[in-house]
Amino acid sequence: MHIPDYREARTRDKRDYKRVGFTFDKSIINKYCGKKYFIKTYGCQMNERDSETISALLEQLGFTKVDDYLSADLVLLNTCSIRENAHNKAFGMLGRLKHLKNEKKSLIIGISGCMAQENSVVSEILQNYPFVNFVVGTHNLYQLPDIIDKAIKDNSQEIEVFSREGDLYEGLPVIRSNPYKAFVNIIYGCDKFCTYCVVPYTRGRERSRKKEDILQEIDGLIQDGYKEVTLLGQNVNAYGKDLYDDYNLGNLLEDIAQKDIPRIRFMTSHPWDFTDKMIEVIGKYSNIMPSVHLPVQSGSSRILRLMGRRYTRESYLELFHKIKKIVPGVTISTDIIVGFPGESEEDFLETLSLVEECKYDNAFTFIFSAREGTPAAKLEDSVSLKEKEERLHRLNEVVNYYFLENNKALEGKVVKVLVEGISEKKNMYFGYSDTNKLINFSCEKKLQPGDIVDVLIVSAKTWSLDGKCE
Ligand code: SAH
Ligand code: SF4
Ligand code: F3S
Repeated sequence: MHIPDYREARTRDKRDYKRVGFTFDKSIINKYCGKKYFIKTYGCQMNERDSETISALLEQLGFTKVDDYLSADLVLLNTCSIRENAHNKAFGMLGRLKHLKNEKKSLIIGISGCMAQENSVVSEILQNYPFVNFVVGTHNLYQLPDIIDKAIKDNSQEIEVFSREGDLYEGLPVIRSNPYKAFVNIIYGCDKFCTYCVVPYTRGRERSRKKEDILQEIDGLIQDGYKEVTLLGQNVNAYGKDLYDDYNLGNLLEDIAQKDIPRIRFMTSHPWDFTDKMIEVIGKYSNIMPSVHLPVQSGSSRILRLMGRRYTRESYLELFHKIKKIVPGVTISTDIIVGFPGESEEDFLETLSLVEECKYDNAFTFIFSAREGTPAAKLEDSVSLKEKEERLHRLNEVVNYYFLENNKALEGKVVKVLVEGISEKKNMYFGYSDTNKLINFSCEKKLQPGDIVDVLIVSAKTWSLDGKCE
């Protein structure tokens, strides 16, 4: 049994990571043929991508996927710790699974993802959730087949969670959930330690994949007919720093842009490491989508300092306007936290005025959630929850206003859309534009998912646009 520990998880040193090729233990291939599995994924794209690997590992064990947990023999919750409500959702689901297990004793229940890296969660599972069969951490997903096999064979509770990242495994299998759009990990972990955030503890040190491994994966995706790749990392802008002296995200984007792939996206970019080279490359290549997610978190330099974000309101705005100027037609989206401990009405008004200036195309807005073990959780907080909820409401009114304004500016314009399928309502096609906007549209021609078509925008809504095929 390995139990996670945040003190160890916080450690950062310069040691090198071995890059290891993954191999599946042949003796357990297809051992569980006929059994069904269900995965529930919480949290971010990194977890979605991990779930695609978990699916592949389970299918090599012989399991078949089902969409209804009631009919599954194994239920796995791939969890997220970012805010308290993500926690609550996973524990709520565990409550439902407890009842199910009372009726179906053979049910196997497992937990993976960021909550598995939290000592308090694992302690709680040990004490109060004896019916959970296994817990596997984000650093040792490659052990999942053995852990499941052992949990089933020995009828035991297996807890294998390493506090620190170990070797970097290449060649883990994957079953992708979308045949045209793929997530490609380029860097794991985060070294930024924003004071409110659990990710550096749950995902460990920044570790870049080798450029050859990434480029090879993308070549494979192109061969398989993929149209869009999204390069993933908690902070993709730090790509390469731990591996190379003179190869960074700008170089990687450029190498990928020269391949025959129509759409390249990347997320998330921390404003701190956004280089001029990157902006230049994004502007230069038409297959790098003009859409940047640039989380600001707050418009107040005082709060940004308390958050440990390493930039000020002024330097963020300078970067924002530089990207807007150099990348033609770029849309910029953001994340904002309201109610950070000690945020005053004046601080909040600075966030509102920053939003007025940036007129974001999209924004994810959150109320600060104190995460155990992070520095911000210890700060004194005099602002009431009611006040925070009011701020969130006021902020959402402003961001929504600009979503609609920006969308209205597209009426009468033609945008390129990657077709994803037919939307349930009105029998229209749907897909995303270059700038990452959801477009519902009619078309007299028969289209296939994966087609990229020109769509004339007819009417704008806050969250989507309606159009017709040109
Ligand atoms: N690596 C990304 C963010 C990943 S988490 C970045 O730094 O940009 C996604 C978003 O969740 C963050 O941008 C932040 O807005 C929000 N978030 C993270 N921790 C939070 C917390 N403790 N309370 C509320 N929101 C939080
Ligand atoms: Fe969290 Fe900050 Fe790292 Fe983003 S950059 S994952 S907010 S610590
Ligand atoms: Fe959540 Fe972990 Fe992602 S905390 S947001 S699943 S990195």
